[in-house]
Amino acid sequence: VTVLGFAGLGTMGRPMATNLVRAGTPLVVWNRTPKELPGAEVAAGAAELFRRADTVLLMLRDAAAVGAVLDAVDVAGRTVVQMGTIAPEESRAVEARVRAAGGRYVEAPVSGSRVPAERGELVAMLAGDAAAVADVRPLLAPMCATTVVCGAVPGALLLKLAVNVFLITLVTGLAESFHFAEAHGLDLEQFADVLDAGQMASPISRVKVRKLVSDDFAVQAAIDDVLRNAELVLGAGGTLPLLEASRDLLAETVALGHGGEDMAAVVRALRARG
Ligand SMILES: NC(=O)c1ccc[n+]([C@@H]2O[C@H](COP(=O)([O-])OP(=O)(O)OC[C@H]3O[C@@H](n4cnc5c(N)ncnc54)[C@H](OP(=O)(O)O)[C@@H]3O)[C@@H](O)[C@H]2O)c1
Repeated sequence: VTVLGFAGLGTMGRPMATNLVRAGTPLVVWNRTPKELPGAEVAAGAAELFRRADTVLLMLRDAAAVGAVLDAVDVAGRTVVQMGTIAPEESRAVEARVRAAGGRYVEAPVSGSRVPAERGELVAMLAGDAAAVADVRPLLAPMCATTVVCGAVPGALLLKLAVNVFLITLVTGLAESFHFAEAHGLDLEQFADVLDAGQMASPISRVKVRKLVSDDFAVQAAIDDVLRNAELVLGAGGTLPLLEASRDLLAETVALGHGGEDMAAVVRALRARG
């Protein structure tokens, strides 16, 4: 029986690991700040996690966190599955490092936030050595509605960033649309009803428009993290005028002190511009 390791029980990692346990996967977990997970064994440190598991999933904040974990472990004979959103170039460097140390590397970023993670409905994109990808893909099934194979590293992260261009400009565009309605004194409930009834309605527009109407910026995806994602896209290069404008508005929202709020709070930057 393959023992799976899981590092990073944060907003995303905890529900993801919980779905693995529910599916009956033998799981060993580790979090930098010690945390338990019902149904899973807990490793005392990252090194122990890699000793006990032959495949280890990483759901960590960023590339610095991935580097810190890899500094502490021996990956020889292990398969490292990096599921966080990091820069394509950073992922390439992690792949080279893992291979040089005798391990296999798969990048498997996911699309979908906390609620899809809880429901096991993430979309995972996988890239790396074909044999390793084929081994890892079925292991991700309890966490995902869909898994898509994207060739060599960093094909999966580039696809994830392409999807993020749409997500970020979509929500920023919705906030701009809402702000236009607000600034012209329209009935905002009616604005939301018309959007919900029309062809642009989507699960994300329905949720975000209600947050805008009720001025509820309780976090689903934090502005800070969305801004980091926008910077990752811009760092990868491309013709991105809408994303650049969105990035500026996200950065202004952070500067106004609202980086911990939901991405819908980007409307605050529009209000501040007056
Ligand atoms: N949230 C979303 O909607 C979403 C959706 C898709 C993809 N993602 C991506 O998925 C990744 C995780 O997101 P999240 O929302 O779960 O983040 P999070 O709640 O901030 O969790 C981050 C995790 O990384 C760990 N970590 C941070 N620095 C570390 C270090 N130096 N060494 C070891 N562990 C470290 C944290 O451990 P501690 O508990 O000790 O701090 C925590 O377990 C990110 O790359 C994010 O961009 C997020």
